[in-house]
Amino acid sequence: MSILVTGGAGFIGSNFVLDWLAQSDETLINLDALTYAGNLDTLKSLQNNPNHIFVQGDIGDAPLISQLLTQYQPRAVVNFAAESHVDRSIHGPTDFIQTNIVGTFQLLENTRRYWEALPTEQKSAFRLLHVSTDEVYGSLANDAAPFTEQHPYEPNSPYSASKAASDHLVRAWHHTYGLPVLTTNCSNNYGPYHFPEKLIPLVILNALAGKPLPIYGDGLQIRDWLYVKDHCSAIRRVLAAGRLGETYNIGGWNEKPNIEVVQTICSILDELKPKADGSSYAAQISYITDRPGHDRRYAIDARKIERELGWKPDETFSSGIRKTILWYLENQAWVANVSSGAYRDWVNKQYAGTP
Ligand code: NAD
Ligand code: DAU
Repeated sequence: MSILVTGGAGFIGSNFVLDWLAQSDETLINLDALTYAGNLDTLKSLQNNPNHIFVQGDIGDAPLISQLLTQYQPRAVVNFAAESHVDRSIHGPTDFIQTNIVGTFQLLENTRRYWEALPTEQKSAFRLLHVSTDEVYGSLANDAAPFTEQHPYEPNSPYSASKAASDHLVRAWHHTYGLPVLTTNCSNNYGPYHFPEKLIPLVILNALAGKPLPIYGDGLQIRDWLYVKDHCSAIRRVLAAGRLGETYNIGGWNEKPNIEVVQTICSILDELKPKADGSSYAAQISYITDRPGHDRRYAIDARKIERELGWKPDETFSSGIRKTILWYLENQAWVANVSSGAYRDWVNKQYAGTP
């Protein structure tokens, strides 16, 4: 028995791979292109684990996908691989179209061919789980009800439009060909191994480095935060028991305005690593130009997954954010490794001209 995971060297994928292999003796084939966001350092504890087979490659590489499926005969494919950063999609959408849409298409099409040829028993047990985002639903007014699975798709950024397109392809491959798919739409994750281009790790690391903490616009945009390990447990649950062709929203019931998230990080750092001059990290907060087309609010109604599959998050925001900050304080070597030249180039481009 084995499963094929794509994007397992990125933030959520690597947490999923580490958790999976800690709990299961099933072989896991981890296919990752190792873009700027993929990092083998994250997986170094698996170096001598015979159940982890790492393959560097692209989900859009049809012969490679076909070869891996034939060789390893997985019972499931879990697709994390994607370009995931909204700001990068605004600067340059090409890679988002290529990986998130064309890549997902190639993965689906080659998986379909493999699945169609399986013997009856394996065919009915097979699953493809596509990991998606709440951003496909667009932006919510502050007084609107959280997104349910029935909410219309209204993606606003090149990133969310490319993820929405991939969700539609997954849906169509089920409807037309009967491919046994599951889709999850999750809110904002945070936790260990989060690449420091995203708000929470960026703020932790900038604070410690004495740099400005950049807040886009008025900082009152709202996100619903979920600790990454809770996302991973939800995916395992959907893979094990989700109804075929269904989508499941996953969220933490932790809606917070960005400024509150940043202030919370500052006050935990004030306690855990006080500044020598006695000032608060909050003094480094700096309001900068807003993200173009910035979605105002996301919020997930996660009652379906709770009702049908009995899943609930373990962490609250206050327990999860403290764990996350401690992890960054204790893992400076990982941070140094990912904050390479390419990362510095991105930061210089994105935050050029800000104080
Ligand atoms: P990430 O950017 O940290 O990691 C993406 C991984 O995919 C990297 O390891 C990268 O090397 C790999 N990759 C990129 N293009 C590839 C390709 N063509 N072929 C193979 N591998 C490729 O992303 P993440 O935050 O871990 O997100 C994982 C998935 O979860 C994405 O599909 C994203 O849309 C979704 N998601 C993310 C969040 C979040 O808050 N981060 C929330 C909901 C859903
Ligand atoms: O909602 C799920 C999505 O969450 C995922 O699909 C994406 O892959 C993931 O990147 C994340 O998208 P966001 O755009 O919400 O995450 P990000 O960390 O980039 O930004 C969070 C909020 O903080 C957002 O409102 C923008 C704001 N922000 C971000 C950065 C990087 C700032 O104010 N300053 C910053 O420097």
